[in-house]
Formats: sequence, structure tokens, C-alpha cells
Amino acid sequence: MELEELRKKISDDFNDMKLNLQTLSELRSQYLGKKGPINSLLSEMKNLPNEEKPKFGEKVNALRNLATKLFDEKKQELERKAVEEKLKKEAVDVTLPGKEMNTGSIHVLNKIVEEIEDLFIGMGYKVQDGVEVEKDLYNFQLLNIPENHPARAMQDTFYVDKERLLRTQTSAVQAHKMLESGGNKDIKIICPGRTYRRDDDDATHSHEFTQMEGLVVNKDVTMADLKGTLNIMAKRLFGEDREIRLRPSYFPFTEPSIEVDVSCFKCHGKGCALCKGTGWIEILGAGMVNNNVLRMCGYDPDVYQGFAFGVGIERIAMLKYGIDDIRTLYSNDLRQNKQFK
Ligand code: PHE
Repeated sequence: MELEELRKKISDDFNDMKLNLQTLSELRSQYLGKKGPINSLLSEMKNLPNEEKPKFGEKVNALRNLATKLFDEKKQELERKAVEEKLKKEAVDVTLPGKEMNTGSIHVLNKIVEEIEDLFIGMGYKVQDGVEVEKDLYNFQLLNIPENHPARAMQDTFYVDKERLLRTQTSAVQAHKMLESGGNKDIKIICPGRTYRRDDDDATHSHEFTQMEGLVVNKDVTMADLKGTLNIMAKRLFGEDREIRLRPSYFPFTEPSIEVDVSCFKCHGKGCALCKGTGWIEILGAGMVNNNVLRMCGYDPDVYQGFAFGVGIERIAMLKYGIDDIRTLYSNDLRQNKQFK
């Protein structure tokens, strides 16, 4: 092949737009390999007259340098393009919305229980657990509700057998704790938990619900302490500018007994649909521990006294978050639960 022809072919071939790294390296061995045209030109050199050899050698070398240079340049270009393409393909659009991680959320009832627990733990209370299948003895008798007492009608009960029942109130934990304390120790506990009554379920009743009991027993606690404590709780739950009002009431295990209202957080006391025009909303029952209860549970009522309160967590949740049907609290609807993250 003519030198000049070969030179042209080399530069055409190496500038071919369709080359890729694979075909480029094939091209390289085609021209620069042992059996390539450049090497065969060099081997022809021995047949030339001596005086032509240097000139010819120079030209062939120039060809080899050209091919090498073109190869190197093309290779660099193709490699750069490959990197650019890869970067383009793997580019991350940081403005795209991220993938959402589905984490759980706290149930509103637990949220309120935790809120109240936090508050009372801060005031030195211990959280006390109880059992849901309870003895009639603790749920009723030791709380001053003997068999056939009319107060039993206030709490229609699921009996498991003659002695045992599904506790109707967390007050049952009071009796356990007092008996356990042997009549000579101070008590300061709150007891959250599930409770059960044979109610027909509707928008405001559920056969299964949640209560939080509070009990303080020591030698000098008074009703003023109870009022102060409930005042703090009402403010924590419903806002700092709330007030509470105590109304006389009746529970067999407290004497005197009270029902506690909080000033309406919707109309601020003016009267609205939520507070039924009264400006007040009932939130819980409470009272001073009845002497009979203290006595039955081993405390001398001349030395010790106590206060107790019981709050319905569902009621607080419904009031606080404007939930109008108690059943939605048990529907396990994640859309609802997620709102309380
Ligand atoms: N256990 C009562 C109820 O369920 C509430 C209560 C608790 C009242 C403690 C007074 C003292 O209705």
C-alpha cells in the first residue's frame, strides 16, 4: 500500500464517529499489531537501497506515531464520554420528593395517658399497674361496695365467675396498693388501664374504655391538696387559663365525693354547644378516701387520710380533639392515628 494512502486511511479510520472503546482497540491492533501494515512496511525496508532506508524509516515511524497519537486521543475522548454518560444516567434529582418511611404513631389514648403520667411523675407519683381480670373483692367490696349495694347498679359488670370480673374501674388498684402497704406507708400513685362495663356501645359509650386513677395517702393530705392537684391537671390537659369547679357528688369509696368541671375551652365560659350552654365541662370524679375503705385496707383513718380521683381517658381525648364518636378511637384507622404523631 502506498504510504500516503495508508496515512489517509489511518486518519479516516481513527476519526470514524461510530467507534467505541471495543472497536477502537480492534483498530489499534489492526494497524499497530505485529501483522499490521506498519510492521510489514518496516520489514520491507531491508529490500530498499541503503540510501533510501533512513528516509523511508522516518516516514514509517511518522505513520506509527500518527496512529498511536490518534488512538490515544480517541481513547481519551471515548472514555470521557463514557464517564459523562454514566454521570448523566446516575444523576439524582435532589428536588424530587423523598420516599416516605412508614413509621408508627402513638394512639391518641396512649398519648393522653403518657401526658398525664409525665405530669404526675414530675410531682413525685409512681405509675402502678393492675390486673384487668380482678376479684370482686378489690373492684367492689374493699371499695365500700358490698354485695347487693345499690351502687353496683352504677357499674354494670362482666363477671368471669362468681368471684372474678373484668374490672369496672381502675379504683381496684387502690385497694391492692393500700393492703400491700401494710397500713403505715405513704402512697402516691397513678394507675392507668383498661376497664370494662356492660354498656351498649354508642357514640359516647363503650364496653371497654380507659381510666387513670390517682391515689395519695399520708398523714396530712387534705381536700385542698386534691383541688390543687386537679387544677394543675386540668390546666395541663386543656390550657393554662382553665379553671376548675367542684360539685358535690357520690362515690361509695370517697367521702366527701366531688365531680370536677373544667371551664369550657371552646367558648371560655360564655356557653356553647360543647358545654351545653353552661360554660363548664365535666371531666372527672374524685374525693377523699372513705374512712371505711381506709379501715378495710389496713389504715387507721384517725391517722391517715387520702384523696383519689379517676379520669376517663376517652372522654378527655374526645373533648380535647373534638372527636364526636368514641368508636373511632377503637377503629384502628391509621389516618386518624397518624394525626397524633
Ligand atoms: N372510679 C370512679 C368511676 O369510675 C371514678 C372515681 C375514682 C371517683 C376515684 C372518685 C375517686 O366512676
